[in-house]
Amino acid sequence: MRFRSARRSKRQTTERQPAVAEPVCVTVARMGAQGDGIAEGPRGRLYIPCTVPGDYVRARPTTKRADGYAADLVELLSPGPERAEPPCRHFGDCGGCRLQHLNDDAYVRWKHERLTIALTRAGIHDYTMDPLARTPPRARRRAVFSAIRPALPSTPPLLGFKCRESHEIVDLADCPVLHPHITAILPRLRDLLADLLSPRQSLSVSVTLLATGLDIVLEWPNDPDLTTRERLAKFTETADVARLSWRWSAASTPEPIAQRRAASIEFGGVLVPFPPDGFLQASADGEEALVNAVRDAICRGPSPKTKVADLFAGAGTFTLPLANVGIGVHAIDSDCKAVSALSIASRAFPHVTSVQRDLFARPLTPGELSIFQAIVFDPPRAGARTQAEQIAQSSVPLVIAVSCNPDTFARDARILASGGYTLKRITPIDQFLWSPHLELAALFRR
Ligand SMILES: C[S@@+](CC[C@H](N)C(=O)[O-])C[C@H]1O[C@@H](n2cnc3c(N)ncnc32)[C@H](O)[C@@H]1O
Repeated sequence: MRFRSARRSKRQTTERQPAVAEPVCVTVARMGAQGDGIAEGPRGRLYIPCTVPGDYVRARPTTKRADGYAADLVELLSPGPERAEPPCRHFGDCGGCRLQHLNDDAYVRWKHERLTIALTRAGIHDYTMDPLARTPPRARRRAVFSAIRPALPSTPPLLGFKCRESHEIVDLADCPVLHPHITAILPRLRDLLADLLSPRQSLSVSVTLLATGLDIVLEWPNDPDLTTRERLAKFTETADVARLSWRWSAASTPEPIAQRRAASIEFGGVLVPFPPDGFLQASADGEEALVNAVRDAICRGPSPKTKVADLFAGAGTFTLPLANVGIGVHAIDSDCKAVSALSIASRAFPHVTSVQRDLFARPLTPGELSIFQAIVFDPPRAGARTQAEQIAQSSVPLVIAVSCNPDTFARDARILASGGYTLKRITPIDQFLWSPHLELAALFRR
């Protein structure tokens, strides 16, 4: 069995984190919420990446954690029954995936348990849980890569994901998670970066696959001069990239440098002009599963004249498919570029309105919510505590929560339940393949 973690662990132990104890031999008992195997060691609990229940391993404790130690896997002595061959040659080195070493049944069970445990902790029981909606390999349509030019000028740049808990970069040759259009651009990007970067310089590259092609944002603290801009424009043309932008830092607005065609995405059959750093669900399959769950819940709802509040609407992932079947939608998001993209795209729908508003600072109040028959809310990973508190006091009969974080979702679900809502149905969606993350759509009724 191919297994690389032990090699990486040795490097991490000597280069990054001094061991706090000699290696110990333990049997992994279960999987934790971050996808690490958990074992009881002589000095406390150990969290060991790349292990599965039943693995008998030699592990080296590294850093103290609240209730035990993070540990590196030194040697797999005897594999547990749920172990599988990882499909990716970078697994164990790359920080992108944590669960490729679990067989499929155990993987699906773990994702379900991740959700049930979070809900049980929040005191929520008695709901219908749909089977895990799967997204296939090679379907992820957005990625943020890191790149560095090594000190030796003749060495080509490294381009890929960061190693787990490290700033080192895995020079990505292939990736079974990413859409092939994204992996296919990596060699060309490497050539481009070999021209752009001086030794030891680094940058980050966001790549998003839109309906009209690739949208690339280079994040780099050097204002590109004329020669660089010409080089970037040439790259955009020869690599047939839809748009290439540059920005100083994650906090600054990307400046488009070259554009071969409109950078657009399609929501509900409507083309939306996509902002350079806009939010897009991680895969088209995941988006479809979410849209189906939201639309089915609302179309089965109490009134044909339903008016929906789409909170944290982005550029209209749910707004436009709902509008397309005649449902009136009021969309709200704090990102002015997303709101403006949606308002341009929804011109043909008089029953759609969109506004910019910070829903953390100024959540919609029960009075404002009273004109709606349904609410869709899809906040960032931190969840929407203040907005959930307002919804909990409202009289809206139907609420659909979309979330990429079972823990913050469970907290917000508790708030809704305390206000009299009942969780009826939940659809887990495996949008983040082989990672500990989980997307979901949940239906609450009053
Ligand atoms: C998970 S995304 C969902 C977007 C959209 N529903 C979709 O599926 O494409 C979360 C959205 O919340 C927005 N957001 C973040 N903080 C916000 C805030 N304080 N108030 C309103 N919207 C916010 C982001 O701009 C982003 O569009």
